[in-house]
Amino acid sequence: LPPELITVTPSMLKAHNGRKGRDAWTSYQGKVYNISPYLPFHPGGKGELLRGAGKDSGKLFMEVHPWVNWDGMLGECLVGILVSENDKTN
Ligand code: HEM
Repeated sequence: LPPELITVTPSMLKAHNGRKGRDAWTSYQGKVYNISPYLPFHPGGKGELLRGAGKDSGKLFMEVHPWVNWDGMLGECLVGILVSENDKTN
């Protein structure tokens, strides 16, 4: 794993729900992204994007716009990879 990326457990993901001054994270295809910087730019609005905050957005994303290039747009917002609760390495 590149040093700038971290392993993220489901409980860490859940904690980053965009509330209490915390950034909003979401997972997609096993990777975790910070979606907060993108909120003001999302063409579907903040509220729609925040539906995925603190959890996996894969299903919602594919329901709405499977043609959108997620990694191309949010590559810089990659936080790390999702691991199971017991596999946290840092
Ligand atoms: C547009 C919802 C995640 C990029 C939209 C629209 C909705 C929506 C409802 C349509 C807006 C309209 O036509 O008025 C959601 C939901 C998401 C999500 C529920 C996840 C919880 C994302 C993410 C990205 C993204 C992560 C970027 C990687 C876009 C783009 C459009 C769009 C580019 C315009 C698409 C087009 O018109 O072809 N979104 N979005 N969205 N969203 Fe999302």
